[in-house]
Amino acid sequence: MSCHGDRDADHDQETTEPSASFTDSPAVCEDHISVTIGATVPTGFEVTAAEEVKEKIGVDARISKDRGRIYFPVTTDKLFQVHLLRSVDNLFVVVAEYNHYQFKESKEETLMELQQLAPTLPWQEVDQAVVAAEGQTKTENTSDMAKCTQNPEDSALETKPIKFRVTCNRAGDKHSFSSNEAARDFGGAVQEFFQWKADMTKFDIEVLLNIHNEEVVIGIALTEESLHRRNISHFGPTTLRSTLCYGMLRLCKPQASDVILDPMCGTGAIPLEGAIEFSSSFYIAGDNNDMAVNRTVNNICHIQKRRADKGNASGLPIDTVRWDLCNLPIRTSSVDIIIADMPFGKRMGSKKRNWDLYPSCLREMARVCRPGSGKAVLLTQDKKCFAKAVSRMGGLWRKVHTVWVNVGGLHAGVYLLKRTGAALGQTPEDLQDSRGSLNKQGDEKEDQEPS
Ligand SMILES: C[S@@+](CC[C@H](N)C(=O)[O-])C[C@H]1O[C@@H](n2cnc3c(N)ncnc32)[C@H](O)[C@@H]1O
Repeated sequence: MSCHGDRDADHDQETTEPSASFTDSPAVCEDHISVTIGATVPTGFEVTAAEEVKEKIGVDARISKDRGRIYFPVTTDKLFQVHLLRSVDNLFVVVAEYNHYQFKESKEETLMELQQLAPTLPWQEVDQAVVAAEGQTKTENTSDMAKCTQNPEDSALETKPIKFRVTCNRAGDKHSFSSNEAARDFGGAVQEFFQWKADMTKFDIEVLLNIHNEEVVIGIALTEESLHRRNISHFGPTTLRSTLCYGMLRLCKPQASDVILDPMCGTGAIPLEGAIEFSSSFYIAGDNNDMAVNRTVNNICHIQKRRADKGNASGLPIDTVRWDLCNLPIRTSSVDIIIADMPFGKRMGSKKRNWDLYPSCLREMARVCRPGSGKAVLLTQDKKCFAKAVSRMGGLWRKVHTVWVNVGGLHAGVYLLKRTGAALGQTPEDLQDSRGSLNKQGDEKEDQEPS
């Protein structure tokens, strides 16, 4: 048994599974049980998520080799806090983890071993930990589970059988089996052990079997739907996950009374997340597309109503405008932070148009942003065009940091830029190319959202 964060170092070679190194089950720290929480996070923002865990829960998170996952210990008295994290998509309690699972050569042997593994796992201890936190988190399912884990045979007496499913997430090319086969056989053994009923759609309990190369983690889901869906009710064609928006916002460290602009806001996902989580700044959300502006307004109204229904009468610090980003109705040097998800030129806009748009908007952003202290956090997958546009801005922007992220399967960059002290129209590049486009490249794609 271990307390707080030493699980990773604890490899037991003498467990009942000869081919696995097994990290032990929950520990009791004073009056509280300690469990390991696994969380999926936007790929690229693992460090940000670990920082948030440290800041809000006070424990160190371990970043998985499998990108997009972190693990951290939490005692049951603090379990409710994990649901308040803003950078996590899905949460689960770890039942067991094997850092170096030696899969058998043949598919049959491996699947047989997975079947044999299921009844040996410390389900009951994990369950006790979660049930102990009753009232803090989703308890209905785990209470159901408690009845079964305490005495699996009793569950057969229940009039309403527990419904469950096993979801297998597998990555790695050295496996002799498919995700479906692993889920099917492991699930079959879980079903036999607990006498539960498999149901892929209406389930009470979701068991997770995460396999990444030779790392195997078995868990119980704590979230029914991803936490990134928290703010948006009116979706657009390229709505950004609120968890990714949160990561972008943290990168630019909003301060009290900062004026923050999202000049191409789409559904307003970024400024809305900002207005909720970093509410001592003021946000202006703009777009040149009527449908986008309407969606943003509707999303803001929806959140305002939800807050009012809960007795929170304070308005959100956000306003919405229809504008062309290349010609902002904003005073020069008046904005502290610009944060935007730019058209990638795939589902939104076109690569060809980006060769005009990117330099124009970088220059206009430089105009409104405070020289010397202003920042921009910009997301794009059109990396070549973006890099060229920034280099042509000469002294106006300095690239500070890039976070590589995965947006709907596309490899994109989140660029943190600092506005230098250079005045507009003073650098040679700026004079030469104040509003001009770059050399046009790329394919024309007329798939812009219709207005
Ligand atoms: C990738 S989308 C932003 C999606 C947004 N982050 C969301 O979560 O919904 C880019 C947005 O830029 C807007 N846009 C493109 N060119 C623009 C311009 N010149 N001025 C203002 N907005 C523009 C598009 O209408 C689109 O809504």
